[in-house]
Amino acid sequence: MLPEPDPTLCHLLADDLRAAGYSSAALRSAWGVRADDAISRGLLEPALRALGDRRDPLAVLGRLWGLGRSVPIEDLAPALPSIGVAGAVALGLAAHEGDTVTPAVLVRPQAIADADGEEEWWIASDLDEAALGGPLPEDHVLGVGGASQTLARLQVTWRAASALDIGTGCGIQALRLRRLVPRVVATDISERALRFTRLNALLNDVDGIETRHGSLFDPVAGETFERVASNPPFVITPRVAGVPAYEYRDGGLEGDALVASVIAGVGAHLAPGGLAQSLGNWEYRDGESGLDRVKGWVDPALDAWVIEREVLDPLAYAELWVRDGGTVPGTPAYARLIDAWLEDFDQRGVTGIGFGYVLLRRPLAGGPTLERYERVASGGEAAFGPHLAACLEEHDRAALLDDDGLADATLRVSPDVTEARHHHPGEEAPSVIELRQGGGFARTIEVDPALAALVGACDGDLSVGPLIGAIAELLDVDADDLRADLLPRVRELIVTGFLRFLDA
Ligand SMILES: C[S@@+](CC[C@H](N)C(=O)[O-])C[C@H]1O[C@@H](n2cnc3c(N)ncnc32)[C@H](O)[C@@H]1O
Repeated sequence: MLPEPDPTLCHLLADDLRAAGYSSAALRSAWGVRADDAISRGLLEPALRALGDRRDPLAVLGRLWGLGRSVPIEDLAPALPSIGVAGAVALGLAAHEGDTVTPAVLVRPQAIADADGEEEWWIASDLDEAALGGPLPEDHVLGVGGASQTLARLQVTWRAASALDIGTGCGIQALRLRRLVPRVVATDISERALRFTRLNALLNDVDGIETRHGSLFDPVAGETFERVASNPPFVITPRVAGVPAYEYRDGGLEGDALVASVIAGVGAHLAPGGLAQSLGNWEYRDGESGLDRVKGWVDPALDAWVIEREVLDPLAYAELWVRDGGTVPGTPAYARLIDAWLEDFDQRGVTGIGFGYVLLRRPLAGGPTLERYERVASGGEAAFGPHLAACLEEHDRAALLDDDGLADATLRVSPDVTEARHHHPGEEAPSVIELRQGGGFARTIEVDPALAALVGACDGDLSVGPLIGAIAELLDVDADDLRADLLPRVRELIVTGFLRFLDA
């Protein structure tokens, strides 16, 4: 068991890591970009090979806590001049036997950039599969994985007074939220995870994160928050003997019931104006769309914006998560687990499994104005938080305007938007016109000539109404009909970030 972290030792360790220049950029340049990418795929050898026989503090700490490999004590001692090897052992981060020190955890630097600039944390978590060289134990505390980074990047960059992180694990979302709020409550059913969160807060000298033990919303009964983030254990797992139930990814309920509980339960903990963001998987059952299932879980008093990034078929989903647990394809155990997953999906008539982002907001006053359930396949790895914040702000402005008000508004096209026109060879008029977003979710939408003309004319000069009048004249169509056709689509372009109000 990881001991309760000692604040003095944590600060001494931070001094040593800092003195060694133990940062993600330094490690990346020490072992190279390709080896760095390979680490995220569970392949450590290229990084080890690149470090060669280097014995400087950065290389030694990188081997021990970046890659999870033993190091000679004579190399480690000079890399930890403040805390000493004994201090690192006392913190539960390493074990010492004879001349060798073995890692008990990983401590990896993790960079994040947001509207306030760049931040880097050292994040301690359990040794991963690559470091262990085999399957994970069920109480594994996850480091910063792909889903963690996705949610961290999605966090809307608004400041607030208080925040809640459900299923905090190593504490990455809590640290991320703490940049926006002075107080974060971080919960988990794993006491071990909460120790990692406390350790990581101390290591990074971040105060204001309070850890609470318990399931879902139990530890915060009766409390409300202005921000909630949750990367819950959303992986759908068969409930049969012999299938491992990893705490870090599996909430112990059937199908997508845990994600349903998070989505359905979060409204009670949102203060007016409060915003909740989470990730999740949802099932498609016998022709019922997964997005419709999510809609059925959402409290209708809330604003909702749900973005589905992908839908996997049951076999692809089973393969993904059986491999993630460290069971190797081609083995009898692999075949047995895949079969258990397929049987479980069959029992509920599951035909696909959606993955995506859920954003819910309690309106400051009045009823909800936002109800979007959509599929967005593209999007890359951008920091979506500032984009989502801008889209919500613009949506809120548009929601206050009736159609006359919107027609009076002056808009401008966002600077990252480009237009592509496709022509049949030899034809003058385009057969397809597309608007493409360079930032945000990198959306591409097809528009007709009237909407293309309107967007093209939104340069912050004339307001929307007169522009529509001029386009109607040009196209020789009825101005009222065109206005009725275009204004709803202008609202759509505002909430998706293609158009902005002039003074935004
Ligand atoms: C996918 S991990 C996310 C960890 C971290 N927040 C991140 O973004 O990387 C899910 C976390 O939820 C915790 N958990 C599992 N079941 C839970 C429950 N019923 N209530 C609260 N937390 C739970 C797990 O222990 C694990 O730490």
